[in-house]
Amino acid sequence: MTDVKATNVHWHDGEVSREDRNALLKQKGATLWFTGLSGSGKSTVAVALEKALTEKGHLCYRLDGDNIRLGINKNLGFSAEDRAENIRRIGEISKLFVDTGVITLSSFVSPYRADRDLVRELHKDGEMDFIEVFVDVPLAVAEERDPKGLYKKARAGEIKNFTGIDDPYEAPLQPELVLNSHEMSLEQEVETLLKVLSERGII
Ligand code: ADX
Repeated sequence: MTDVKATNVHWHDGEVSREDRNALLKQKGATLWFTGLSGSGKSTVAVALEKALTEKGHLCYRLDGDNIRLGINKNLGFSAEDRAENIRRIGEISKLFVDTGVITLSSFVSPYRADRDLVRELHKDGEMDFIEVFVDVPLAVAEERDPKGLYKKARAGEIKNFTGIDDPYEAPLQPELVLNSHEMSLEQEVETLLKVLSERGII
């Protein structure tokens, strides 16, 4: 649990609402949360969806594990505690983007169910769409891909607490969507996501 040290603080409303911003952008801000093993294809599909949405005239933004850990979360490692704080911060950042009206594509291993559920709750509290997308491939497929050579290092004992090797991955129980990137083409994945966004009135 996060220590709350900020006391006597109050939300200050402006004169422009989320609805005003959504109307300006002709879309509804929402978070698509991609979770799965390293190498499962989260970032690949987020990149492809970002391109497709932009071509259709929608404003979206990708928040990606490695990128965020190069900046705002560079002080966090991969212990369960640090991952929880990583995900909590990303959840709050995603909410800020959604409030701006942006379609937010958040791709993080986010291996713990409780951490993802917290982000889901944060969105629910803010009356915001949260779409959990489980990018589900067998560990053997992710390990075979090993785009960053990290599985090899983890197997050699050079990286500790690597998700799927010596650290757990808790699969979502009721994700809004499952993508099997080893059985679907990237185009199929993007089409599926666009359909969900359209059905929910986000685009
Ligand atoms: S999370 O578990 O806190 O959600 P996040 O998505 O931000 O992880 O970062 C995962 C990325 O960090 C992986 O794609 C990989 O490149 C890198 N990484 C480095 N060490 C680890 C580790 N021990 N476990 C998982 N990913 C790691």
